[in-house]
Amino acid sequence: MQYKRFGNTGMQVSRYCLGAMTFPNRLDIDGSRRIVDQALDRGVNFIDTANSYGMSEEVLGKILDGPKRERIYLATKVYRRFCRDGRTGRNSRVNLISSLERSLRLLQTDYVDLYQLHHPDPDTPIEETMATLDLLVRQGKIRYVGVSNHYAWQMAVMIAESKAHHWEPIVSLQANYDILDRQLERETRAFLREFNIALMCYSPLAGGLLTGKYEPGQPPPEGSRAGQSEPLRQMLEDEGVQSVLTRLAALATDRALKMNQLAVLWLLQKPAVTSVILGGHKSEHYNELYDVADSSLDEKAEADIDAMSAQRVYTVYRNQPIAEGFSLAEQW
Ligand SMILES: NC(=O)c1ccc[n+]([C@@H]2O[C@H](COP(=O)([O-])OP(=O)(O)OC[C@H]3O[C@@H](n4cnc5c(N)ncnc54)[C@H](OP(=O)(O)O)[C@@H]3O)[C@@H](O)[C@H]2O)c1
Repeated sequence: MQYKRFGNTGMQVSRYCLGAMTFPNRLDIDGSRRIVDQALDRGVNFIDTANSYGMSEEVLGKILDGPKRERIYLATKVYRRFCRDGRTGRNSRVNLISSLERSLRLLQTDYVDLYQLHHPDPDTPIEETMATLDLLVRQGKIRYVGVSNHYAWQMAVMIAESKAHHWEPIVSLQANYDILDRQLERETRAFLREFNIALMCYSPLAGGLLTGKYEPGQPPPEGSRAGQSEPLRQMLEDEGVQSVLTRLAALATDRALKMNQLAVLWLLQKPAVTSVILGGHKSEHYNELYDVADSSLDEKAEADIDAMSAQRVYTVYRNQPIAEGFSLAEQW
């Protein structure tokens, strides 16, 4: 396993981060424990969850007893409301504090290493959010502040606010980045480089599309994610996506790699990428990726993938409620 400095922080995180979104929706606690132990054995020191991932935090809390907890950097996210009525701002002081207390209790820990805003919140002034996060760092309950699903301009506002007020700055972005969704390369990538913001890529296999298990034009296999997800099914029907998948399968065969290995190696090669967040629910899903953790892709293969998926730079940013992003300063 290789490790990389996490943006402007002193953390050295593994290039693979274990995503716990499917714990325990697809796994019981013993299955989840096996996946965590397997990750630790293979050198992973970074785990990502969220307060909105069902019982994920609770399951992780049971698995990560004392010594294991100290071996990993633990990241969680906040957006789901665990307070009052349905109108209190999700990134408000009220929700941040009560949600973090709940996360710490479920995770059975005194602190999280990275506390991330899962999405921007149009109902809370950004100053309130950032002042609260700064307080939580000073209280020792969180070590660093990150964001997810934010546009570059929204992060720029946050950096300016933290500089002006001497608040803890954001150190990372968690965003969708994979061969089939490269919109991050349009503007965000340059922004991350400019400010040395760490990048955690989620859904590196496009929810399973980049595993080779879906045949273009055929119905999704029984029990697969695409069988339950309309957006994934629509992507599978897209001729541009089908064309990339067909060419990628040929390239994988040519390099004696599996398509999932090719997809993850392509990401690890990109200088902007700090960690790739792995998803799955079977040991095999991970083993193939751990096996190539120290490999690299030859330049020709990387260039071929860049070229065959060039159109995928122009996809719509899907994980914000308003396509162009809403203002962080005003309430809409
Ligand atoms: N910040 C955010 O908004 C956000 C959003 C999404 C995810 N995330 C984070 O990113 C992590 C990973 O996301 P993800 O689960 O979407 O990642 P992904 O790697 O794109 O998809 C994983 C899914 O692909 C399928 N798969 C993986 N390996 C396979 C293999 N070898 N053969 C066949 N199928 C295989 C499995 O789905 P099926 O077997 O069910 O088909 C598996 O659950 C999450 O755990 C979470 O921590 C964050």
